[in-house]
Order: sequence, then structure tokens, then C-alpha cells
Amino acid sequence: MFQFQGKKVLVTGGSRGIGSQIALDFAQSGADITITATSQASVDEFRKENSELKFRSYIVNFSKLDETEKFLKNIESEIFDILVNNAGINKINLLTDIKLQDWQNIQDVNLRAPFLVSQCVAKGMIKKKSGRIINMASIFGMVTKEERLSYTTSKAGLLGMTKTLALELAHHNILVNAVSPGFIDTELTRRVLGDSGIIEMTKRVPLNRLGTAKDVSNVVLFLASELNQFITGENMVIDGGFTCA
Ligand SMILES: NC(=O)c1ccc[n+]([C@@H]2O[C@H](COP(=O)([O-])OP(=O)(O)OC[C@H]3O[C@@H](n4cnc5c(N)ncnc54)[C@H](OP(=O)(O)O)[C@@H]3O)[C@@H](O)[C@H]2O)c1
Repeated sequence: MFQFQGKKVLVTGGSRGIGSQIALDFAQSGADITITATSQASVDEFRKENSELKFRSYIVNFSKLDETEKFLKNIESEIFDILVNNAGINKINLLTDIKLQDWQNIQDVNLRAPFLVSQCVAKGMIKKKSGRIINMASIFGMVTKEERLSYTTSKAGLLGMTKTLALELAHHNILVNAVSPGFIDTELTRRVLGDSGIIEMTKRVPLNRLGTAKDVSNVVLFLASELNQFITGENMVIDGGFTCA
């Protein structure tokens, strides 16, 4: 459906879940893909499942600043056409039980990494006078629920970052948008909700199902495509109607 021949795309957290679907869909539309993951085993698994796919990979844990800086050094001379800041983590807990290290890890992966990677990649996009950045936010950046303090804070911050980047980069012809998935059926969701939580949540989604990684990827590819020429600083909600209620 979309054409990305000759486009260089970086997807953080591209080894599993939503990110791997996005990487796959860009690759199948002709793009030259680079992904990040936290372990070689995760990349190998993705490669095994998609043996025909050609892609480059970097191993980086964004909760570690030294690893993040090393990764940025490795990519700083490259010019990417599209950046998808997808890597993200969640750990639910009540205010009184949150451990500082868990809070910090969530902010570092969900917020510091999109800032640092965007800062690095935008330099090349500015030189090329074109680019697209898509940030993977969440409905929990807009609404919230008990035990989501760390996650909601990080994703609300990412929505703020999206708007500021959109304004700062608009005159360089770089469009910056966020997508906010609702409940998408991935390992992260199954770990956080558990089996009973999945059943309960499905009943609360007006379209009566959890979303798929493909539901999210379709929107990301649209925002990154030539079809989108005038949407920037926007947040596209992909939740089957959940936040309408
Ligand atoms: N699933 C949902 O319902 C949902 C809803 C709203 C928003 N989101 C957002 O969508 C994004 C992807 O979620 P997902 O459900 O697809 O997650 P997932 O299945 O857990 O995959 C997460 C990806 O991020 C990478 N990653 C994990 N921890 C990392 C770290 N410390 N440093 C660098 N990379 C790391 C993982 O690499 P490894 O394979 O090496 O671990 C993996 O590629 C996240 O930003 C999440 O907040 C998800």
C-alpha cells in the first residue's frame, strides 16, 4: 500500500511486539531498516521468524546512559529519513510502592531515549531538509488508571515532546507525530494485565477486541508516508474507541 523504496528507517525496540510489526511493514514497502533491541537473542529470534528480511541491528539498553551514548555515536553520521521512537517499558505499582530505580528506568527508556535519539537523528534530517519522526506514546499519556504513575508521566511527557519537536523542526520540513495505542495484544500487555485482565479489558473496548500490532503499524506508516504532508504535532489514538467512553 505504501512506498518507502530508498528510505532509511530506524525503529527502536524493533525486535518484538509493535516495533517488529512496524519494521516488517516498512521493509515490505521497500525501506532500508535498522532496529534496536536489548539483546542479540531477541534480534536472532526476529531474524529467525523473518528469514527473508534484510535489516541492520544495534544492541542497546536505553536505561543505561553509557550504552545509549555508544549507540548514538554509532549512528551519528547516518541520515535516516524516518525515526520511530518505539522502545518502551511499563511496570505498574502504587505511588507508595514505586521503587526509585523502576521509576527512573521507565523515564529513561520511554522519555530520555526518544529525546536523545531524536536529537541525534534530527541533525541528519535537518541537513537533508526532510524527515519524519513518530513517537510511540499511549492512551495512558492522555488518560490514566491507578498504578500507572511512572508510565503515564513518561507518555504524557512524550506527547509534550512531540508537539515541541513538531514546532522546532517544521521549518526543516520534518514532521513529528505521536501515536497512542490502547490495549494492543503484545507480550508487554499480557505481562501487565494477565489472562483475566485481558478478558476484562476486551469487554471494555467498544470494538470488542484488543488491537493488533498491525492496527498500530498501519497508522505509523501512513504518518511517515508521502500521503501525509500536513499533519504534524498530532497524536493519533488507536484504541478501538476505548477513550471515547
Ligand atoms: N502493547 C500495548 O498495548 C501498548 C499500548 C500503548 C503503548 N504501547 C507502547 O508501544 C511500544 C511497544 O510496546 P510493545 O507492547 O510492543 O512492547 P514489547 O512487546 O515489550 O517490545 C518492546 C520492545 O522494546 C525493546 N526494549 C525493551 N526494553 C528496552 C530497553 N530498556 N532499552 C531499549 N529497548 C528496550 C524490546 O527489546 P528486546 O526484545 O530486546 O527486549 C522490544 O523490542 C512501547 O513504547 C509501549 O509503551 C504499547
